[in-house]
Amino acid sequence: MAKTKKQPTRSANEEINPEHQGYLRSYRRIVMYEDLNAAGTIFGGRLVSWIDEGSAIFAGCQMNARRIVTKKISELIFNQPAKLGDMLEIWCKVINSGKTSLIVDALVTRRVFVDDQKENTAITQYQSKAETEICRCELVFVAVNEKGQPRIWNPKYAK
Ligand SMILES: CC(C)(COP(=O)(O)OP(=O)(O)OC[C@H]1O[C@@H](n2cnc3c(N)ncnc32)[C@H](O)[C@@H]1OP(=O)(O)O)[C@@H](O)C(=O)NCCC(=O)NCCS
Repeated sequence: MAKTKKQPTRSANEEINPEHQGYLRSYRRIVMYEDLNAAGTIFGGRLVSWIDEGSAIFAGCQMNARRIVTKKISELIFNQPAKLGDMLEIWCKVINSGKTSLIVDALVTRRVFVDDQKENTAITQYQSKAETEICRCELVFVAVNEKGQPRIWNPKYAK
């Protein structure tokens, strides 16, 4: 069985550039009203579903397979909230390529847009702050056949 690696923890407000760490951006969403919890920040279940979908898009491309299923989502710690209007970006990197599985590291960053008060013109000016990490986790995807059984996707293991 493939083993997942423990990820290093990161301070909540540290600005990062995932591209420099070998991640590919797989998904982007703007937080809308229907994505909020009763505290006015993003609902965790909604974010998990975006992580699953964004990572599955990435894994499907890497595995060149349409039929893949999520086997595992690792522990997920929400270090920072996301608020209405924030842009969330899901970045992915391959951790391990197995015979039928693929382990993906998924990183969620938040890009905040703030009004520039000095430029109060007809066209509102926005400043985009650098990315900050809000959470990360690992996911295991398995390629399956029509019967839902694992199937080899990795050419390294093909006979
Ligand atoms: C995915 C599924 C077909 C795998 O069946 P399985 O009996 O675990 O199959 P295997 O034991 O052959 O494992 C398949 C691969 O998953 C990996 N795997 C299994 N359990 C794992 C775990 N807990 N953590 C990490 N990897 C795991 C294995 O190492 C193997 O990888 P490899 O072939 O690359 O070495 C089956 O568990 C299933 O249908 N699960 C439900 C999936 C689902 O509905 N997901 C939610 C919606 S997408």
